[in-house]
Amino acid sequence: MKSYELREKYLQFFASKGHVIIPSASLIPENDPSVLFTTAGMHPLVPYLLGQKHPAGRRLTDVQKCVRTGDIDEVGDATHCTFFEMLGNWSLGDYFKKESIAYSYEFLTEVLGIPREKLAVTVFAGDEDCPRDEVAANEWKSHGIPEDRIFYLPKEHNWWIASTTGPCGGDTEIFVDTGKKVEGNPSPAEDGEKWVEIWNNVFMEFYRHPDGTYTPLSQKNVDTGMGLERTLCMLNGYKSVYETDLFADIIEKLEELSGKKYGEDEQVTRAMRIIADHMRTATFLIGDEKGIVPSNVDQGYVLRRLLRRAIRFARTIEIDSALLTQIAQMYIDKYKGVYSELEMNKEKILTEIAKEEEKFSKTLENGIKEMEKVLKWVQGDTLNGKTAFRLYDTFGFPIEMTVEMAAERGYKVDLDGYKKAFEDHQAKSHAGAEQKFKGGLADTGERTVYLHTATHLLLAALKKVLGKDDIRQKGSNITSERLRFDFNFDRPLTDEEKKKVEDLVNEQIKRDLPVTCEEMPVEEAHKSGATGVFGSKYGDVVKVYTIGDFSKEICGGPHAEHTGQLHHFTLLKEGSSSAGVRRIRATID
Ligand code: ALA
Repeated sequence: MKSYELREKYLQFFASKGHVIIPSASLIPENDPSVLFTTAGMHPLVPYLLGQKHPAGRRLTDVQKCVRTGDIDEVGDATHCTFFEMLGNWSLGDYFKKESIAYSYEFLTEVLGIPREKLAVTVFAGDEDCPRDEVAANEWKSHGIPEDRIFYLPKEHNWWIASTTGPCGGDTEIFVDTGKKVEGNPSPAEDGEKWVEIWNNVFMEFYRHPDGTYTPLSQKNVDTGMGLERTLCMLNGYKSVYETDLFADIIEKLEELSGKKYGEDEQVTRAMRIIADHMRTATFLIGDEKGIVPSNVDQGYVLRRLLRRAIRFARTIEIDSALLTQIAQMYIDKYKGVYSELEMNKEKILTEIAKEEEKFSKTLENGIKEMEKVLKWVQGDTLNGKTAFRLYDTFGFPIEMTVEMAAERGYKVDLDGYKKAFEDHQAKSHAGAEQKFKGGLADTGERTVYLHTATHLLLAALKKVLGKDDIRQKGSNITSERLRFDFNFDRPLTDEEKKKVEDLVNEQIKRDLPVTCEEMPVEEAHKSGATGVFGSKYGDVVKVYTIGDFSKEICGGPHAEHTGQLHHFTLLKEGSSSAGVRRIRATID
């Protein structure tokens, strides 16, 4: 079976059971700073699981793009992918266990034609929070699943929650017998080779609080997830997901580019799988409707790691990494029928990948040489933290890559030492950056200070008017005459947008908002929603300037005391600064 058939069959089946087909949400979660990516189909539906009314009704189905990077080290085996599609169906306070299991059973046996004898299920064993799930077990029995194919398991296995708090509940997981002969005839809970898990039906009826207690939700929900790649692999009797139509031609292309054969040896196979997986995830992350680009923080850092890892593995099988854009192009063509955003963002995807490749491949060889040189002299089995930091700072090696490369050569990395070197450097560059900014404010006369405050208002106004929370300061220069402000944005502003930005800033000036300053560790600053160019990962204490309810930024200051002092703001000019960066000149009077 091909991927499009499985998607279609799934959606049509649930549509025939009264479910409304909804589109996949973005990979970048909305209003949820606790996770970097959408990791499950239920993620964008959390408010509705908690009782808010969904505009499409109480029965929904979709195919959701997901990214999970927790298992990145396992990519290269037969089933782990960092990007995958999750087929899901939901009951938002409508049907519950009985119907959910009946639908799953019908879909698996009648639509997909899996013989009942090949199925096994697990159900929640019960504990002090929630009773043993005899309802689910009985429902399975009513469909002819014998007692010895039903396994009762505790919370570690059969309880599902997206993170540490939120909607959750016991689940029933559905496994298919791969037919592999494994000694001892292990149960689905014991062995991943004999039984492959393809579907998880979660009965979400509780809310887990930060203190670990559970309270019932206002409604009983069903949340299910079926992995597209894995299910295709199982249905076709393939050994790995890379044989499915989602990957097969990509692997062929990698064979052509490398002149090597997939399957010829373990290293080649693993490298091809890693490249195929990481390039697909990168294509979807950049091409997302809220697409991101490589950077040193948050989602951008994960993307950078994926791309750099793909580049490194391409080199190990003698593929010119500049050719990786061809792989991205193939993914765009393959998926654009389902995810039109890839076609819409095609140029961005190809440009960003090419840019990152160019940046990294320049230093990759030298970095590897450097690592090998240092390892020759290293005492014991541990690469020191300073070297690991130099590999990051000078050669652009994400620390995870250094750890992985050192391990390949039989060494560990002193991560505490790395962290320390990182912090020392951040402290220095933070001071430097503040200094530089103050340099920009050489004339700290009143007007310069007020223009600096206007810059903060401008950034907040741009985010609001353009509806993009990921707009960042890319540069700033202030004289007593005017401010100049660079920010990431991919097109010119319309006259209407410029006017709106100007009006919004002036509105804040009229409101005469107080400007206050607090010092706090950078983690806390980010948690409090502050943005800032001096972001560092570990421990620095930074100043956070807050302007009423309108703006919050990490910044060295100085600033006006209240916005009324700015009097009136005028946007003078907006234009391009460099690729993807716009420049605004503005003044106050
Ligand atoms: N939310 C459930 C999962 O991801 C269905 O497994």
